[in-house]
Amino acid sequence: MNIRQAQFADLPGIQNCNLSNLPENYPFKYYFFHMLNWPQLSYVATVPDDKDLGQEKIVGYVLSKMTEPPVKQQDQGDHTTKKRSKGGKKKKVAAKDFLSEEEQQKIEDWIPNGHVTSLSVLRSYRRMGIAGNLMKQSMRAMIECYGGKYVSLHVRESNRAALHLYRDSLRFDVQEIEKSYYSDGENAYSMILYLEPQR
Ligand code: ACO
Repeated sequence: MNIRQAQFADLPGIQNCNLSNLPENYPFKYYFFHMLNWPQLSYVATVPDDKDLGQEKIVGYVLSKMTEPPVKQQDQGDHTTKKRSKGGKKKKVAAKDFLSEEEQQKIEDWIPNGHVTSLSVLRSYRRMGIAGNLMKQSMRAMIECYGGKYVSLHVRESNRAALHLYRDSLRFDVQEIEKSYYSDGENAYSMILYLEPQR
């Protein structure tokens, strides 16, 4: 068993693993988007492929990203829109004029944080510590590469195995219950863990 950073060539194996394990599936470009933007955050667990000598088979993955920072007011200042005044003349309006107080507060409060988009391990390789290991590698990279201060994720209320992993083993807290978060109507636990540098 080997755990290593995911590469572009792993994406078909990751997608295959996802399709076998979870109802939440994504178009190929979404995996690609993660790898392109945050290449350090996604990991795979591999074993030698007994059907293809010398090749690896992906038996687990974690796909993670950093949350995008809100656009800063000063960044938006340049991007002005022209609004037509009563006299017919176009008047420049700065984007900051459109931000609510709540939105402005979000910008001030923002700290770097990661998000685990998807995690899974093939059935015959479960309960061997693979998922825990993948999560720890990804969370370490969030801290070391992006200065991540916390990590969040969503999990189905009924997912006992994942809940055990997140809440009991890794010590995530439930932040809130998001009603009907999933397309079949099931609620999600929105979970969060404050990150501490690991030794
Ligand atoms: N019931 C109860 N506890 C379990 C179960 C289970 N079925 N499976 C694992 N655990 C516990 C382990 O005993 C271990 O506990 P410990 O730390 O106290 O010893 C802990 O969870 C971690 O176990 P791992 O061996 O690291 O987990 P594993 O490699 O088996 O993978 C996973 C767990 C990812 C949830 C796996 O069952 C799976 O792939 N399930 C289907 C896909 C899925 O549900 N993914 C998560 C969706 S949420 C998201 O993607 C953000």
